[in-house]
Amino acid sequence: MAGRAPIPESGEIADLAQAAASCQACDLWQDATQTVFGEGPAGAQLMLVGEQPGDKEDLAGQPFVGPAGQLLDEGLAAAGIDRQSVYVTNAVKHFKWRKQGKRRLHEKPNAREVSACRPWLEAEIRAVRPRAVVCLGATAAQALIGRDFKVTRERGKLLERPGLPPLVATVHPSSILRAPDAASRHSAMEAFIKDLSNLRPLLARR
Ligand code: URA
Repeated sequence: MAGRAPIPESGEIADLAQAAASCQACDLWQDATQTVFGEGPAGAQLMLVGEQPGDKEDLAGQPFVGPAGQLLDEGLAAAGIDRQSVYVTNAVKHFKWRKQGKRRLHEKPNAREVSACRPWLEAEIRAVRPRAVVCLGATAAQALIGRDFKVTRERGKLLERPGLPPLVATVHPSSILRAPDAASRHSAMEAFIKDLSNLRPLLARR
């Protein structure tokens, strides 16, 4: 294995993205189409961190452009946050999947894969310097907040961790898509919008 591509000294997002394109710090690059790096303005006030690219993202090379991304866009819009103003990325930057018939089914990344990718996420945080980082779901929350973190117990709380901007966790948009019926989907979406809306005062501060 060639290992992790070195983190460029400039620390700039474009340089990081270019370097990450040849990263082989874990084995996931082998079955993925490409590295899907974060996207958004360099000085974004808010950074959103998902788990890993899905099937659509792997093909497009952009984070959150598939069904979960659509739901994220709806949640942000309902919370009065412009997606173009936020930096969106993932804890793991290659799509992990297994084949089922013609479909590529999402597989959860393991702790080793998450930690292999963490230097890229930390470099993105240093480059963007957001006022807050929103962890979307358990994988992102466990990567940044702590291995024992439970989204169900502590969602929406602003947390401090050494060397990181304030962190907050909420559910992953895919969990809303998986809700068993329309009523539970509606209430999960409302709670997601509420978590995102609570960040607005932080963003308004000058
Ligand atoms: N799910 C994620 O966690 N990230 C994406 O980019 C897409 C789906």
